[in-house]
Amino acid sequence: MSDASSDTPKLTRRPEWTALADHRAGGQPHLRELFAADPGRAERYVVRVGDLHIDYSKHQVSDETLALLQELAVATDVFGQRDAMFRGDRINTTEDRAVLHTALRAPRDAVIEVDGENVVPAVHAVLDKMAGFADRVRSGEWTGHTDKRIKNIVNIGIGGSDLGPAMAFEALRPFTDRGLTVRFVSNVDGADLHEAIRDLDPAETLFIVASKTFTTIETITNATSARKWLLDVLGDDKAVAKHFVALSTNAEKVTGFGIDADNMFEFWDWVGGRYSFDSAIGLSLMIAIGPERFRELLDGFHTVDEHFRTAPAEENAPLLLGLLGIWYGNFFDAQSHAVLPYSHYLSKFTAYLQQLDMESNGKSVQKDGTPVEWQTGPVVWGTPGTNGQHAYYQLIHQGTKLIPADFIGFARPVDELSDELKAQHDLLMANFFAQTQALAFGKTEEEVREEGVAEAQVAHRTFRGNHPTTTILAPELTPSVLGQLIALYEHKVFVQGAVWNIDSFDQWGVELGKVLAKRIEPALTEGAQVPGLDPSTTALVAAYRSLKEV
Ligand code: F6P
Repeated sequence: MSDASSDTPKLTRRPEWTALADHRAGGQPHLRELFAADPGRAERYVVRVGDLHIDYSKHQVSDETLALLQELAVATDVFGQRDAMFRGDRINTTEDRAVLHTALRAPRDAVIEVDGENVVPAVHAVLDKMAGFADRVRSGEWTGHTDKRIKNIVNIGIGGSDLGPAMAFEALRPFTDRGLTVRFVSNVDGADLHEAIRDLDPAETLFIVASKTFTTIETITNATSARKWLLDVLGDDKAVAKHFVALSTNAEKVTGFGIDADNMFEFWDWVGGRYSFDSAIGLSLMIAIGPERFRELLDGFHTVDEHFRTAPAEENAPLLLGLLGIWYGNFFDAQSHAVLPYSHYLSKFTAYLQQLDMESNGKSVQKDGTPVEWQTGPVVWGTPGTNGQHAYYQLIHQGTKLIPADFIGFARPVDELSDELKAQHDLLMANFFAQTQALAFGKTEEEVREEGVAEAQVAHRTFRGNHPTTTILAPELTPSVLGQLIALYEHKVFVQGAVWNIDSFDQWGVELGKVLAKRIEPALTEGAQVPGLDPSTTALVAAYRSLKEV
């Protein structure tokens, strides 16, 4: 029953796994039948966490399915693994690191130890330093080299040092100081920096260089170009101190770049890049929304942390959502998961989740290095409704693939909208509810015929339904609610990684491309011979160089 290299029984040989496989093979009733037999599931299959109302009634599950999934969670010790994370154990084994993003939003009086040292005072010291700086920029007390007020903030970072603050800035635009221009540069494509700074005055611009390692080539390249742009106009190296700050764990590299150590906001190796946006990495957001709102965001995270840490299994939202994902991914072979926010402000939310989920759980070996023999993380995708309805929803409704989806919506539009625009909100949400209804219940051939549709068209106009969705509703999109949503997904991803027995906190899969790019670059710029380059890439490099010449 055991792997050769481990004492842990192989996941797919566990009795709890085979029980689920048998249950699946027994066939699931259509959602129409499930609701007809048990209308009460609409009330029963709901969990409330903080401000979130999470309805999972439109899933292809019964009480029995849920009980079997819970047994799998017990067998794989999800809660034991959760406790180890919250305790600060080194659960990121391949990097030998603790995983303590939950400490970033712990209250001031909490005690969380790494190697015998309470990390909470240091977390709050950095938050206080960030708040002091944010207030000075917002009030105009912090000025540029020529004493001009800072009006533009440009965050330079990539991956976890970009996606979180960029997403949250969009999400919380109505809470931002509208007098500030805040932009995010990530791509090493020079066009990204060009578009971000082309209309800015360097004397009024603050660059925030965000990089955990401070070695990421994209970020260092863009930061170097930004510094040149600034100094070309301001003409004095001393200007860097007033126009550049760094967010990093690597003080040596930061000072080596020329940024004053006083202008560095620190975080720690127990914060993974994709879990870092509520650390110093959130500085651009804090400047935009102010320290008080930022603390509300952290409180939102903490609410869900506490829920995940303490709520019983049957009411534990991250556990339930994680297990539902496993049900479809591992027992229906669903390959992807759509996240569909019905809020324009959440336009970058799914892109943020792509890194969170796919960099965490895109793994094919277990913690001990032996191959997994089961599906791991799904392809996460989606864009805000209603736009997707006129693009790819066709495939979700009538295509051949099973695509579980999360629908995220809000009861109230943001306050800032005019009354006329606020009135559009009910129409937006009518679409939101209509979609999950159509996906679950579809439209039968009989119903189509009853409408008098010609027989030749009946099949085309039939919706088979039975598409699973989770509906997540909140009163409105506030900093706290955003924190709650992110923590919900962070812990869902954790649950899935725990069941799959993978290290959700490393990302070795990004390394090879970085090394190869470094090797290939001289071939593009100087025509250098790259030893060991494969024939296909050699031919492409030659084609690139001859096209470049034209
Ligand atoms: O893509 C790999 C990665 O290491 C991410 O995990 C990380 O968020 C990103 O690069 C940026 O890294 P850094 O913050 O060190 O610049």
